[in-house]
Amino acid sequence: MPCLTHGLSRIAVQNWIGARILAFAAPPNDALVGGGIVKIACIGGGPAGLYFAISMKLRDPAHQIEIFERNAPGVTFGWGVVFSDLTVDNIMRNDPTSAKTIRAEFTHWDDIDVHYRGETITSGGHGFIGIGRKRLLEILQERARELGVILHFSAEADPRDAKWHDYDLVIASDGANSRFRQAQAEAFGIDIDVRRNRFIWLGTSKVFDAFTFAFEETEFGWIWAHAYRFAPDCSTFIVECSEKTWRSAGFDEMSQEESVDFCERLFSKYLDGHELKSNAAHLRGSAAWLNFRRIKCERWTAANVVLLGDAAHTAHFSIGSGTKLALEDSIKLADVLSRPELSLEAAIDEYQAERSVEVLKLQNSARNSTEWFESLPLYTQFEPLQFAYSLLTRSQRISHENLRLRDRAWLETVERWFWKRATKGALCKAAPPMFAPFRLRDLELQNRIAVSPMATYSSLEGRPNDFHLVHYGERALGGAGLLFTEMTCVSAEGRISPGCAGMWSDEHADAWKRIVDFVHSNSRAKFCLQLGHSGPKGSTRVGWEGGDLPLNEQNWPVVAASDLRWSPVNQVPRAMTRADMELVRDQFVAAVRMGLMAEFDMIELHAAHGYLLSSFITPLQNKRTDDYGGSLANRLRFPLEVFAAMREAWPAHKPMSVRISATDWAGDDGITPADAVLVAEAFAREGADLIDVSAGQTWAGQQPVYGRMFQTPFSDRVRNEAKLATMAVGNIYEPDHANSILAAGRADLVALGRPHLIDPFWTLRAAAELDYHDINVPPQYLNGMAQLSRNLRRDAQGARSLLV
Ligand SMILES: Cc1cc2nc3c(=O)[nH]c(=O)nc-3n(C[C@H](O)[C@H](O)[C@H](O)COP(=O)(O)OP(=O)(O)OC[C@H]3O[C@@H](n4cnc5c(N)ncnc54)[C@H](O)[C@@H]3O)c2cc1C
Ligand SMILES: Cc1cc2nc3c(=O)[nH]c(=O)nc-3n(C[C@H](O)[C@H](O)[C@H](O)COP(=O)(O)O)c2cc1C
Repeated sequence: MPCLTHGLSRIAVQNWIGARILAFAAPPNDALVGGGIVKIACIGGGPAGLYFAISMKLRDPAHQIEIFERNAPGVTFGWGVVFSDLTVDNIMRNDPTSAKTIRAEFTHWDDIDVHYRGETITSGGHGFIGIGRKRLLEILQERARELGVILHFSAEADPRDAKWHDYDLVIASDGANSRFRQAQAEAFGIDIDVRRNRFIWLGTSKVFDAFTFAFEETEFGWIWAHAYRFAPDCSTFIVECSEKTWRSAGFDEMSQEESVDFCERLFSKYLDGHELKSNAAHLRGSAAWLNFRRIKCERWTAANVVLLGDAAHTAHFSIGSGTKLALEDSIKLADVLSRPELSLEAAIDEYQAERSVEVLKLQNSARNSTEWFESLPLYTQFEPLQFAYSLLTRSQRISHENLRLRDRAWLETVERWFWKRATKGALCKAAPPMFAPFRLRDLELQNRIAVSPMATYSSLEGRPNDFHLVHYGERALGGAGLLFTEMTCVSAEGRISPGCAGMWSDEHADAWKRIVDFVHSNSRAKFCLQLGHSGPKGSTRVGWEGGDLPLNEQNWPVVAASDLRWSPVNQVPRAMTRADMELVRDQFVAAVRMGLMAEFDMIELHAAHGYLLSSFITPLQNKRTDDYGGSLANRLRFPLEVFAAMREAWPAHKPMSVRISATDWAGDDGITPADAVLVAEAFAREGADLIDVSAGQTWAGQQPVYGRMFQTPFSDRVRNEAKLATMAVGNIYEPDHANSILAAGRADLVALGRPHLIDPFWTLRAAAELDYHDINVPPQYLNGMAQLSRNLRRDAQGARSLLV
């Protein structure tokens, strides 16, 4: 591998990747970046290379900048690109001259059309701007030339060439397949994720009035197109399908012309006689069909090479942000390099620090969007309206309230549809989905918000007390439709900590009944008793004294599926015998009967988070070699036996749920989301009405990926693959999150844990914020609710008048 810094003599280049500091002789004119003439080579004349060159020249016309582009002028791949208004504002500020030309040539459109199962769903207000890639490059090339950038076309740049040593900086703007990045692969820390679906980027002279998604069901599976106009006479037409469909349709054996003909026939009803065309003649046969490659780099610099645009990162084409990222990278890099107070090292650090955050945000949204298209079969059971809603909210960047701002009428159509289904036709109102009722067996919930089970560690000998009365009472008054108790343990040994609540004696049942009675007589909330056994995570301290750490004294022996300790500091549990299993099963059944005496409305079995039943389900904690270990079916045997016995003891008209960890956050070594579907189905066969889809906490080495609504994709998968009712939980904290999840069919109920700890009245507050009044407010608090609503309305009007 060549050392690109060798021979540099113009500037002092500190090796900003940190490992080496390379000092070179200072140039005669002491040209430090930001303070003098710099000689730069941009590899690749795509949007990134051209726009960076323009941006640098604008900041100092004396810089010597050359672009090396392998293609001849006017030759490029792809068709059109889309931008957002924000990108246009950014380029307008950076270079009004090129921005004005680009803006003058933009094609604008507002609507998105979703063609699906013979219907066209149109929603408006999306505000897209498109331009042909070829035209964009022409504009940028012209501007670059005008500013004195030297453009070399038909000039393949080879990273091994010694001439790069003569440049102060080599900008690797050579696209997703960057040779310059690959030449120093290790130094850049490249991570490439090759995605599952196939796509081909075509164009057509058919002019689409709206951004168009066309889904076609074929004998081979679903094939769909993303199409949009980018010039008065031209549209981009990207065709996508799963690998399986691609192979069954025979695309893998077709020439490019045959593929294009196939697509033209399939989508003929949208093309009105116009042809589909490819401009990727250099790609032979099936090679024109690509798999999207998500690229990330740990470091964006190595020696004097700086990565820019697609060479550094890619974002799936379905969120249309690659060109935006390339342009914004260019502006930032030119900015930092032109600030005299920054050393080169500091400048590049700032470039990467700021841009990598923006890139990460977009790559997260792009991943959601990519996965939506890869999981299409989950959604093709939806009715057209919900299918379109799910498609529009797929990246989680567009939410329920964003859609209201874009197209209120359309959003209200969705809300009416949701309410009509939720009330079996009785109510068809445009109101937030979270307030729609939900039925589980004979239990009618007044809304879709649940207070998630949360240990309060405030019991003595398992008895709930006045703290629990106030705690649960207050949350019931706060408006949630369903309240879960904390994990209530079926035996003293089954407690997590000495403070855990229990249900193993009549005394416990009586103490709980006092609380259930309060909830029932003072609110419309329903109350679910969560029953569990701590297993290997038992005999530990209360949460705020160090959760999962063993007690300082008076530890009691613990049991688990296997004799594997939770962590090196926890006790080694005893692997359960058949007699232990029968005892514990009977304890669960006895607790169910006590729950009935206490008049709970519902029972949940806690089979998540590494506690006893979860220790059977996860292969990471279950190493048994008998009928209760090995295959998933074996590992589920005991948890299912417990559930079935509980179900038998619980009245048929009352519902039951089960909480599962849908992933062990351990890749394929542990429970995966695909396993979670099988686990959920197995419990449903035993009579579970709702799957409470949590995740992780099943082994001490988990590697969770946190974020907003981070566990919701698991609920989505269980609900739509197993076709079961689910509750989503995990970092859901805004009413807008809840409404988006519910309307998109990603869950039937939404549980909030920590937000309810600090705000028992979360649901009533949400109702006031959303101006929704058809909710049960405790009469004692009616005045407060009315005042809150008035104040919020006044604030909103004030904000609107300030904007005018
Ligand atoms: C199907 C599809 C649809 C897309 N749709 C959109 C969209 O709607 N909106 C959007 O913003 N983005 C879209 N993108 C992404 C967008 O095309 C890229 O993100 C964007 O082009 C990145 O710009 P770049 O300059 O970094 O790379 P590129 O545009 O890839 O430019 C790299 C340039 O380097 C040249 N080159 C490469 N190697 C060498 C070499 N060794 N020597 C000389 N020259 C070399 C190439 O010929 C090329 O011209 C889409 C991408 C795909 C695949
Ligand atoms: C203090 C605390 C105690 C918890 N106790 C329980 C519990 O007893 N049973 C249970 O299933 N989950 C328990 N959880 C997990 C929550 O129910 C919920 O799944 C988790 O907090 C994520 O949701 P959130 O982001 O809305 O808080 C607890 C969480 C916290 C923060």
